[in-house]
Order: sequence, then C-alpha cells, then structure tokens
Amino acid sequence: MHHQNLPASDCQHTYDTVAADILRDGISIIEHALTDEMCMLLLTRITQLSDAQFIEAGTGRQQMHGINTKVRRDKIHWLSDSDLIERQWTQWTHGLQTHLNRSLFLGLFSYESHFASYEQGAFYKKHLDAFKGSANRVLSTVLYLNPNWQEGDGGELVVYDPANPEQVLTTVQPKFATLVTFLSEEFPHEVLPVKHQRYSIAGWFRVNGSHGMVVDPPR
Ligand code: OGA
Ligand code: MN
Repeated sequence: MHHQNLPASDCQHTYDTVAADILRDGISIIEHALTDEMCMLLLTRITQLSDAQFIEAGTGRQQMHGINTKVRRDKIHWLSDSDLIERQWTQWTHGLQTHLNRSLFLGLFSYESHFASYEQGAFYKKHLDAFKGSANRVLSTVLYLNPNWQEGDGGELVVYDPANPEQVLTTVQPKFATLVTFLSEEFPHEVLPVKHQRYSIAGWFRVNGSHGMVVDPPR
C-alpha cells in the first residue's frame, strides 16, 4: 500500500491526494494534511471544552444500543457550526466533499463529525463504521491532533484487509495533522489502548438515504 509522506498542507493538494488514494486503494493516509495553524486551532478548541461538553461514546445507532464500554472507551463532542473553530473544520471537509463529488462522483450529501478524547487505557475494538446495504455512511475520516506523539505511546489505528479481516493492512500513528480517509463499509479497524491522552476528529460523509417519509440522515 502506498503511503503519502510529502507535506500536503495546501488544501487543494490534500483534496487531490485523497481522491487519487481512494480511487486506487479505498484508503488514504496523509501526513501534514492540514496546516499546523489549523490543527493547533482545533486542538485548542478540544482542550478548552469542559468535561461536561463530552459524552461517553455509544456504538451503532447510539440511542438503540446504548453505551458499550467493552467495545469503546472514548469520550466525544459533536462538532457544530455555532463555534467558529469547529466551523472551520466543517468548511474544510465541505471542500473535500465537493472535490470528491466532482472527481469521483461519490454523491456525498452530508458530513458529521465529533472530537474524540481517549484517556489512558481507552481503546476502540475492531469494527466497521457502516454495514453493507443498510447504513449510508460511505466515507470515514479521522484527523489526529497529538503534537508530541511518540512511537510506543499506544493508540495506533490498526486497519485490516477487507478481503481478509484477520490480516493487518496497515498501522497508523495518530500524529498531529495526519488524516486518514477510507471507505466506511470496507475496512475493519481498531484503536489500540492508549498510554497518553489522545485527541482526534472522527467524521463520516453520508449519501442521502431518504425514502418515504423518513429523512435520513436526521442531523
Ligand atoms: C471511530 C474510529 C479511529 C481513530 O471513531 O469510529 O474508528 O483512530 N476512530 O480514532
Ligand atoms: Mn471507526
């Protein structure tokens, strides 16, 4: 698998690289995908949120399945456009959505994302972000916000081979400004237990799954 290690802070270049990687591999891993300035703003925002602004993450359709601490132990805060810094991330991802729709005809319709905080010992067991046929999450993104990350700090993202889910495809260090994008239905992945506080933004592009009177996505 191809790894992108060139600085790609300029956003058009990052958009192009994501599109090319997704087309070729279904997954894209880009270091320095956004400017350090932008990532520092996002990190400042996440560190300034109070504990009360985080909720324990659930699994699957949250309301239906409740919180399952055997599967995941991260705490999350959904981003919204009412915050200036959060809106900058939304705008950047909107640009990516437009680019991917133009270049790959993916028909991406909306994007939702949350900050995730993994405290010492937190993890997220192997899972898929969407299930074939049912869900309408099509593309997953994760942006890492850990400036002093060292190998051995734990919290690596392990991505498995879609054709053989026991086989590790690649292991990603959650380093500052690294962006991972992948097809939500295809790649099983997990977050190994973290040894130090780990911050990220996880997000999903959806296609429009409206049918009958039910409008999905609801947010
Ligand atoms: C998720 C997820 C990966 C990561 O939130 O669904 O898989 O590296 N996150 O934070
Ligand atoms: Mn996931």
